[in-house]
Amino acid sequence: MRQFLLIAHRVPVSGAFTLNDLAGGAGRMDEVARVVSTAFTLSNDLRRDTELEILFVAPPPPAARRIRLRGERLRHLNPDERSTAALLKNALVRAIPFDRDREVSPGIVVGPVEPLVALGEFCRRPSAIWLRETGRPVGDWADPTGGFAAVLSDPTDVTDAEAAVLTAEGIPAVSLGPRSMRSSQCVDVLHNEFDRRESARRA
Ligand SMILES: C[S@@+](CC[C@H](N)C(=O)[O-])C[C@H]1O[C@@H](n2cnc3c(N)ncnc32)[C@H](O)[C@@H]1O
Repeated sequence: MRQFLLIAHRVPVSGAFTLNDLAGGAGRMDEVARVVSTAFTLSNDLRRDTELEILFVAPPPPAARRIRLRGERLRHLNPDERSTAALLKNALVRAIPFDRDREVSPGIVVGPVEPLVALGEFCRRPSAIWLRETGRPVGDWADPTGGFAAVLSDPTDVTDAEAAVLTAEGIPAVSLGPRSMRSSQCVDVLHNEFDRRESARRA
C-alpha cells in the first residue's frame, strides 16, 4: 500500500475561498490539488493502491479538518487542478457541522481532527517515513513492506510542534533528491521510485 499524509497549513478549513485564487486566498490549494492529482492519476487510469490524508491545520481544533482519499473507491477525480480543488472545497464546506468522519463522495471521507494526534498515529504505520530535503537518499531506504507511509508538507515548512512529533516517533527522514521540490513533484518521484521497485521485484 502507498500512503501519503500531506499537512496543508494555510487552506481556509471552512472552504471559504474562491476557485479563482487557488494560489492566494485559498492558501495554496493549487498545490494541494496537484498533490491529489499526482497521488492518484495515471494516464487513463487511477492508482487504486494509494491513499492520501490531508490535514487542514489552519485554524487548529475544533475547526481543523482531515480529508482522506482512498484510490480503491475514488470516483469523480479529473486530472485538472481546478476541478480537484472544487472537490476538496465541497468536502470542507459540507464538513463544517460534522462532529465525526463521514464519506461525502465515493472514496472521500472528511471530519474534524486533532492534527498532532493524527500525525503521530500515521507515523506508527509500517514503512512510515518523513520526506525531508536533508534525509537519507531514498535509494538507501529499504522499505520493509513493499510500500510506504510518507509524510510531507505543503509549500510551508512543518511547524516546530509537527517536527517534534515526527522526531519523537523516530521515523526515518528520506530525501528524494538534492533540490527542494514542490510537494506534488515529491509525490511523483516517490511513486516512480516504487513503480520501478515493483517492476524489479516482478522481473
Ligand atoms: C516546497 S517543500 C517545503 C518548503 C521548502 N522546505 C522551502 O525551503 O521552502 C514541500 C515539502 O516537500 C518535501 N520535499 C521537498 N523537496 C524534497 C526532497 N528533495 N526530498 C524529500 N522531500 C522533499 C518536504 O516534505 C517539504 O516540506
